[in-house]
Amino acid sequence: MARGYKYFEAIEKNAALLGVLTLVMVSLGGLSEITPIFVEAHKMAAPEGVKPYDALRLAGRDIYVREGCYLCHSQMIRSLRAETQRYGAYSVASESVYDRPFQWGSKRTGPDLARVGGKYSDEWQRQHLIAPRHFVPESNMPGYPWLVDEKIDGADVAARMRTLRTLGDPYTEADIAEAPKAVEGKTGMDAIVAYLQGLGVLNVTPHPGAAPASGSAAPAGTAAAAAGNTKAAEGGKP
Ligand code: HEC
Repeated sequence: MARGYKYFEAIEKNAALLGVLTLVMVSLGGLSEITPIFVEAHKMAAPEGVKPYDALRLAGRDIYVREGCYLCHSQMIRSLRAETQRYGAYSVASESVYDRPFQWGSKRTGPDLARVGGKYSDEWQRQHLIAPRHFVPESNMPGYPWLVDEKIDGADVAARMRTLRTLGDPYTEADIAEAPKAVEGKTGMDAIVAYLQGLGVLNVTPHPGAAPASGSAAPAGTAAAAAGNTKAAEGGKP
């Protein structure tokens, strides 16, 4: 009989001890699964081409979060053919390194917006945000006409940049000092349109999934723009 059997028997006959030791083993197992994920997350560096949001786009992003756009729009294209054909190259984590919190979302009442930048003109975005049903009669997206009158507070944007810097965003003193000037006279509408127009354009990374067989993966390329125009003309569904 193996020498360790007497310990085994002791554990087996003592429910409390068995419980405690089970807990220890399960915790170790859990830690070994979770720890690498945390370490990986901290190693996620911004690839070249992905810069922190400039002042205006940062203000726009905060409006996007405030207005709850993520409740109807995801910003994560899955690596499925139907998705990449419709929206472009699938999303990768490094595209969102400067998103706190990230806006991947999981609800798609409207289309995914990860690569909507450049798909429409600024003016289209503006008018669509004011009156979505003007373009897509069956749209259930609310209008946001008041954004046209909303002033952006430059000092506030600078303060947010400073906060993000403490979390690791590489804003320089000059970036922060120039922020109030960059948003001077801008409206909430200007900010959110700037934000949308950069999605998938200003945060593109060298991409493992850049060219799936579909060949339609160019983020915000001309094909996407053409598809968008057709859609708008037909009043297509999301
Ligand atoms: C109640 C759900 C809902 C909310 C909230 C919502 N949207 Fe939409 N959105 C939709 C639907 C549905 C469509 C598709 C029909 C259309 O174009 O209006 C859409 C379309 C869009 C499009 C065009 C996408 C494309 O590829 O054609 C953009 C851009 C957009 N929304 C931005 C926003 C922004 C920015 C916000 C927040 C200020 C927002 N949406 C809030 C439902 C929503």
